[in-house]
Amino acid sequence: MRTKIRQLLSTTDHTALIGQEHTVKGWVKTVRSQKNLTFVELNDGSSFGNLQIVIEAGLKGYDTIIPKVTTGASMSVTGVITQSPGQNQAIELQANTIKILGEAEPEGYPLQKKRHSFEFLRTIAHLRPRTNTFGAVARVRNALAFATHLFFQQRGFLYIQPPIISTSDCEGAGEMFRVTSLDMLNLPKTADGQIDFSKDFFGCPTFLTVSGQLNAEAYACALSDVYTFGPTFRAEKSNTARHLAEFWMIEPEMAFAELEDNMSCAESFIKFLLKHVLENCAEDMAFFNEFIDPGVIERLQKVLDTPFERASYTYAVRVLQKSGKTFEFPVEWGLDLQSEHERYLTEEFFQKPVILTDYPRKIKAFYMRDNSDEKTVAAMDVLVPKIGEIIGGSQREERLDVIEKKIPEFGLDPKPYWWYLELRKYGSVPHSGFGAGFERLLRFVTGLDNIRDVIPFPRFPGSAAF
Ligand code: 4AD
Ligand code: MG
Repeated sequence: MRTKIRQLLSTTDHTALIGQEHTVKGWVKTVRSQKNLTFVELNDGSSFGNLQIVIEAGLKGYDTIIPKVTTGASMSVTGVITQSPGQNQAIELQANTIKILGEAEPEGYPLQKKRHSFEFLRTIAHLRPRTNTFGAVARVRNALAFATHLFFQQRGFLYIQPPIISTSDCEGAGEMFRVTSLDMLNLPKTADGQIDFSKDFFGCPTFLTVSGQLNAEAYACALSDVYTFGPTFRAEKSNTARHLAEFWMIEPEMAFAELEDNMSCAESFIKFLLKHVLENCAEDMAFFNEFIDPGVIERLQKVLDTPFERASYTYAVRVLQKSGKTFEFPVEWGLDLQSEHERYLTEEFFQKPVILTDYPRKIKAFYMRDNSDEKTVAAMDVLVPKIGEIIGGSQREERLDVIEKKIPEFGLDPKPYWWYLELRKYGSVPHSGFGAGFERLLRFVTGLDNIRDVIPFPRFPGSAAF
């Protein structure tokens, strides 16, 4: 039976382990050879920490095995746990049997001990999970996904799975990837020379979804509280540290809920995630705090302890205009806020997370509920330090006559939305929801600078490698 390294290192009473025999399996991080002794740091990904393996020269086959114990090689070791005389660890494993499972030739293996740049590591995305940073990111990502389900399940939300292939452009930004099985070299044409999508697989134009929200609304308008958690796609040519072409989104949707309820849910959700990670990923977070983003733990703790600020878009615009700052992009009522504006508001002005509400209706999506001033909508964006927008949401337009007018007004073809309108025709209710970008949450929690480093295999303009 193999023991995971985490199980050994996380045991609080180490003395209880002394003398026990264990078999561990993992990859060699470092090797240090002395005259009659070799020390190996072995990692199996179950924890940040490595287990120190001590191999004595007397071990059977020592001379043939040791040259194969190189950084990156995989091995299985059976031995006895002893108290470690070293400074850095409480216990170590005194090897009795060693089996090299897979060699790693030192000339070829790219992850030798020195530090590598994140840019370089992106070019070896298949090996980067073996580094300290990417192992830690993977464990924190897992913890955040688990905590997401915990949060919503504890509150009685149902987890639903909206389709990935969609006919509607939820955000109305026209940034969709087309899905087709047509022969690109031999496209069927209509009489007026257009591509004949009636001959396509689904009999109509289809795309990868930009959001599961519209489908989630249908289920919320039957089951009250639901959430999605899945991949979404945007064909926006944004080559930035905060955009991916494929990212994961968590979209709760609540019936009988207004903007106020939506804001409370978003704030509780973020705080729940932070608390969970600080409690359950202490070792990984300590690493981020020391090597990636000094102060990140304190920043998260502060967010956890402080009520979020709430302010209107109109107020925020006034604050920005009075700030005396020179921004790259203009600030004017009616224009969308850019990342630099969001970060000024949350980092410098409010110095805490802020929920901005009531944006101009023209810069937001068609489904947001019109306010009575006829200029703004019941929208909300949650802005946090270092990231800017981390969550976007709204109360939904539940009035049939209003939404019927808004769809064409926003330049959308009403045809694919017939079912969305029926939700307003039959038993319509006030309802609200939001979308939380999973990778933005991860950037916030880990302090990593680039969104491409918090998803295992990033997709962005010009790159779909691995
Ligand atoms: O603000 P967005 O576009 O809102 C929606 O999609 C709504 N349908 C959500 C809803 O109300 N159910 O996206 C929501 C969040 C953003 O706040 C951001 O965190 C993230 O998704 N996001 C991205 N993350 C990475 N790369 C991108 N290209 C992203 N676009 C949005
Ligand atoms: Mg948004």
